[in-house]
Amino acid sequence: MHRVYLHPLALRIWHWTNAIGFILLVLTGLQIRYVGVINLVSFRTAVLVHAWIGFVVTANFFLWLFFHLFTDQGRNYFAELNPVKLFQGCWRQLVYYSSGIFKGAPNPFRQNIAKHIKFNPLQGLTYQMVMLAFLPLQIVTGILLWDLAGFAPIVQFLGGVRVIDTVHVLIFIVFVLYIPLHAYLAMLGRTTFEHYKAMLTGWEDEDDPAE
Ligand code: HEM
Repeated sequence: MHRVYLHPLALRIWHWTNAIGFILLVLTGLQIRYVGVINLVSFRTAVLVHAWIGFVVTANFFLWLFFHLFTDQGRNYFAELNPVKLFQGCWRQLVYYSSGIFKGAPNPFRQNIAKHIKFNPLQGLTYQMVMLAFLPLQIVTGILLWDLAGFAPIVQFLGGVRVIDTVHVLIFIVFVLYIPLHAYLAMLGRTTFEHYKAMLTGWEDEDDPAE
């Protein structure tokens, strides 16, 4: 067993700012959508806070993006282009999470930080979709909804307010499902909070190659 430096400081700052931001966005988003049913803060306050946190999460996303574009961390996001290998890898991981883990089977995935193999195939695919598709799309639709009058020509071009709002709400639902599932899967290390500790300190234990 040896220790590896898994998460650089910038990544950790991005992650926890993003996680807190997302929870607040979900709460204020629910308040905006269900005004009259939920009455935690006024509609106006919810809209204002939602927009401000949205901008913080957006700026934070660019921190994440530039960090991955200009350091070798981006290599963790290289996609598996062979669909058969990708499917087999994801399937193996799904079988492990849904049955193997309960029978004490070993995790079929071994990370290799030196080779930038940090994510298991299922994680890799999920993080690619979340960070490179859902989050950017949510940012763009959020900014358009923030100033409908100012962005009127773009909003019209994209099909109108209903289309933009529907996309924003659908991705909101994706994130509401993603966050608890992601937080749960992150508990499936050798110990419950091994991955959480690593996301706080940067360091994690890794098996020696021969083990
Ligand atoms: C309550 C909220 C959250 C908790 C408790 C949490 C927890 C964690 C933990 C423990 C890890 C490290 C282990 C792993 O890679 O699985 C991690 C990684 C990650 N999380 Fe989260 N997370 C939360 C919210 C989010 C949100 C909202 C997003 C994106 C929208 C996100 C995106 C990521 C990504 C991309 C990584 C991989 C980072 C890397 O190693 O490069 N997380 N999360």
